[in-house]
Amino acid sequence: MGNRSPTGHQPIGRQAVTLWSSRTSRPLSEEAKNLTYSLAVDKRLAFDDLAGSKAHVKGLGVSGVLTNEESSILLTALSQVEEEFRNGSFEFEQSDEDIHTAIERRVTAISPEVGPKLHTGRSRNDQVACALRLFSKRELTATAVGIIDLQEVLLARAVDSADAYLPGYTHLQRAQPVPLAHYFLAHAWALARDVDRICDCLKRVDVSPLGSGALAGSSLKLDPEYTQRELGFGFLFENSMDAVSDRDFVAETLFDLALLGIHLSRIGQEIVLWSTQEFGFVHLDDSYTTGSSMLPQKKNSDTAELTRAKAGRLIGNLTALLVVLKGLPLSYNRDLQEDKEPLFDSLDQISLILPALAGLLAEAKFDLERMKEAADSPFSSAVDLAEWLVALGMPFRQAHSLIASLVRDSIANQGSFEDFVVSHPSLGKPALEVIKAGEAVRRRITKGGASTGSVKQQIEQLRMRLEQDRNRLQYGRSGSQQP
Ligand code: ARG
Repeated sequence: MGNRSPTGHQPIGRQAVTLWSSRTSRPLSEEAKNLTYSLAVDKRLAFDDLAGSKAHVKGLGVSGVLTNEESSILLTALSQVEEEFRNGSFEFEQSDEDIHTAIERRVTAISPEVGPKLHTGRSRNDQVACALRLFSKRELTATAVGIIDLQEVLLARAVDSADAYLPGYTHLQRAQPVPLAHYFLAHAWALARDVDRICDCLKRVDVSPLGSGALAGSSLKLDPEYTQRELGFGFLFENSMDAVSDRDFVAETLFDLALLGIHLSRIGQEIVLWSTQEFGFVHLDDSYTTGSSMLPQKKNSDTAELTRAKAGRLIGNLTALLVVLKGLPLSYNRDLQEDKEPLFDSLDQISLILPALAGLLAEAKFDLERMKEAADSPFSSAVDLAEWLVALGMPFRQAHSLIASLVRDSIANQGSFEDFVVSHPSLGKPALEVIKAGEAVRRRITKGGASTGSVKQQIEQLRMRLEQDRNRLQYGRSGSQQP
């Protein structure tokens, strides 16, 4: 083993071998290296790895595995590496297998005497799980804040749509008039559940795996409780093999993001539909649309279309990870390295969609006249008419069939529905009031229904909810306790 460089590496030509290479007799082939090295992806965990390493070193110091001097030398070296990442001067080497080995290599170069003690009582298995959990905690929290920002836009649009209404659809057929605000709030409430799901997921992300070692812990006197507190984790692992080998917290995160993406895709789809000339319910600001390279008259809703499309990718990332995890024997397997790309990609995609959709909605102009026109067909109040009869004592089934026959007659004879209503003995003039434009929206009284009254209540409730959720996330971000 002569010929070792001060970094602990054995140079072979231009290529140095890895930190673990003493076990193997030949260097890793280029092909295997291309397949197994993950630096290009996981260098994104640099700061989380450094945080984990600092806590680990402090822990070794307080439990007496390292002397105070050794731990302070390592901490200084880690801070220097951190600064190098911050100012962009950190230099990777060809031999850097991943971010964790790159950092350890550099610490050892800074302090050839104490650097080799950094990995004491630790494995990359608990190290990588630790960094990934720190990363996920922060990024998930930021994602939830991004969702709330979008909800604020929906809330604002609900507030300023005042008394506007449009047709509500089932089967994409006009069903009943609904306040435009109720529509915005419907999406906002779905997003509230996404925030809730993320907060819940955060509890299971918030677990320190440090101290698990490769799979079995250590015979050295480590202090996992100390490192847990130091890193602000709310919980500590219960079982070292479980801690290094499960990525259920990543799968859960990917599910939450996939479902969020599905919710966003539904908004995207409606915007696409509504901005067609056929619907004409919304005019998108030019800053959120594109032209066509060939057709001079086109204005395309690409922002909304990609919002719709990204859900596919988010579902794909979830599926990819679930399949990687399926059937993996305990404990760590290199397969687990495949957790990062889907996770990073889903977080990235969501962080692109949320602000773009928020901006699009904030800038969009809704054509309230056009919506009203579409909703004012007297047929759209057919059920209100039936309910009016019910209030007068008629069984619903009978009322339903009576009104249905009037609709049928009106369509078959091309007569106005109002005329059929006025001339029917059970209905007459007073019934006309019920099908008057905008009346249906005012008449509904059920909680959470599509009515002016319910919308007012929902706006208040949502406002409170958004404030609570912001506080909840603030709390989760700063401390070890979860909401
Ligand atoms: N880059 C690896 C990962 O992300 C690090 C863990 C490697 N552990 C090992 N025992 N080979 O999973």
